[in-house]
Amino acid sequence: MNVHSPAEQTDLLSIDALSKRFERQPGLIARAGALVGHPPDRRAVQALSDITLSVRRGEVMGLVGESGCGKSTLGRIVAGITTPSSGAVRFSRSGRAAPGGAQMIFQDPFASLNPRKRVRDIIGEAPVFHGLTTRREMTAYVARYMELCGIDPELQDRFPHQFSGGQRQRIGIARALAVEPDFLVCDECVASLDVSIQAQVLNLFMELREKLNLTYLFISHDLSVIEHISDRIAVMYLGRIVETGPTEELVRNPRHPYTRALLDEMPVVSAAPRAFQPIRGEIPSPLSPPPGCHFHPRCPRAEAICTTNQPGLASVGPQHRCACHFATTES
Ligand SMILES: Nc1ncnc2c1ncn2[C@@H]1O[C@H](COP(=O)(O)OP(=O)(O)OP(=O)(O)O)[C@@H](O)[C@H]1O
Ligand SMILES: [Mg+2]
Repeated sequence: MNVHSPAEQTDLLSIDALSKRFERQPGLIARAGALVGHPPDRRAVQALSDITLSVRRGEVMGLVGESGCGKSTLGRIVAGITTPSSGAVRFSRSGRAAPGGAQMIFQDPFASLNPRKRVRDIIGEAPVFHGLTTRREMTAYVARYMELCGIDPELQDRFPHQFSGGQRQRIGIARALAVEPDFLVCDECVASLDVSIQAQVLNLFMELREKLNLTYLFISHDLSVIEHISDRIAVMYLGRIVETGPTEELVRNPRHPYTRALLDEMPVVSAAPRAFQPIRGEIPSPLSPPPGCHFHPRCPRAEAICTTNQPGLASVGPQHRCACHFATTES
């Protein structure tokens, strides 16, 4: 039996029945239409439906799924940038309360760094504001975080455009860490980098996690990135979690047809040949998701029940849950 230390068992983050609906802002034409008696366009995007998920202290939770499935929306709600329509996000911070709480690191380090500011101010302003350092000691404070993230601290007077993409992402990471968060939401934060640089930045995330006892929600559409860095994985499809489990178990023994399809689309590194089965069809519009299981129009296993009944997440093994009517039947 696997014995965990009490620290490992503590949930740092609990997401409970979280939903987010974006009402479409009526455009000018729709508002004009309303004036002459046309019914308003009531379509809304259900970006997240009933998401329940917890992340233990020190863990890396990987969140994977196709474009538009709601990954960033979930990340932004966890980071406190977006408010949910319903449900709750709770951080349990017994003992040490981190000043920076949850911080978010974005995909495009250039867009998220102010081009007119020097690196010293980009990294140092928030910690000064939070009282973690003073203006006088800021240079030394910033140097520590630059060094920690593998950037030469001598370059504090430079501007973002004077750095490479990988270095800019390191500056973004240093800026997030400088407010001493205990939780990082990393949203596609290696997606814009070359593959060789991706590996370096992923290694930096792993090192930082050890050194600073960080917990991550790591978002990527790329399952190979997620598999590399995550302890556990949650697979999303059109606003719902369809499968979640420990990385090795989920990759070795995927239960949801969508997870299987994602794995089939990964470049095969192992010697074992896999039957290549591309995901059929288009991602349905989140404006009008299919009834029943959202995945059924693309699913090779779909039967009548899948078109009418939404499957709930059910246990299919230790810590392994899957939302499929046939998850417990072997294929
Ligand atoms: N501010 C917003 N207003 C209206 N709709 C939104 C808003 N933000 C996101 N959406 C919609 O919510 C759904 C989920 O979007 P989200 O950005 O969370 O997906 P994602 O999984 O991060 O996609 P990607 O991989 O492309 O980054 C999409 O249909 C998107 O169009
Ligand atoms: Mg996104």
